[in-house]
Amino acid sequence: MIGTGRAAHRQTVLDVGAHYFVDLHHNRLEDIGEVDMVFDVIGGQTLHRSATLVRSGGALVSITEPTPVPTGIARVIFFVVEPDGMELVALERRLRDGRLRPRVGAIYSLEDALAAFDPTRHSRGKTIIRVIDDGDGE
Ligand SMILES: NC(=O)c1ccc[n+]([C@@H]2O[C@H](COP(=O)([O-])OP(=O)(O)OC[C@H]3O[C@@H](n4cnc5c(N)ncnc54)[C@H](OP(=O)(O)O)[C@@H]3O)[C@@H](O)[C@H]2O)c1
Repeated sequence: MIGTGRAAHRQTVLDVGAHYFVDLHHNRLEDIGEVDMVFDVIGGQTLHRSATLVRSGGALVSITEPTPVPTGIARVIFFVVEPDGMELVALERRLRDGRLRPRVGAIYSLEDALAAFDPTRHSRGKTIIRVIDDGDGE
């Protein structure tokens, strides 16, 4: 499994299970060679360049934008997540047994929830809005 990103994210990407890391700004994506599947969370040029790596019969999955179908690719998938209670329960199970390891960034109280959407406050990791105060002072 190959993970990509900015140089500063190398260790994080390796820690979550990638075998190799490709720095999108200093390495050439095209040098990776053919892959079975691309899962894109960046879009734009990165998505278009990644698409060319998928082997014939492979899959290109993107959550950022509908993707033009590159020649020879068997499956191109773009989807938008929909709220689903059963899937949330399944995700919770994965969280509890350690199969899902989220990277938590900033944590806001419900009173400060508006600030969580302030684009000038970009933080690394997922932003949490704490709805229930569990009394640990966060
Ligand atoms: N279809 C769906 O259902 C769905 C659901 C959730 C999210 N999305 C979309 O998926 C995308 C990612 O969402 P997210 O919540 O995962 O965002 P995120 O937590 O901000 O993660 C995006 C990651 O990609 C990195 N990145 C962004 N542009 C980059 C570039 N040009 N070169 C290298 N690294 C880059 C970011 O690094 P930095 O932090 O250093 O910028 C960050 O680590 C967004 O476009 C979002 O709208 C779609």
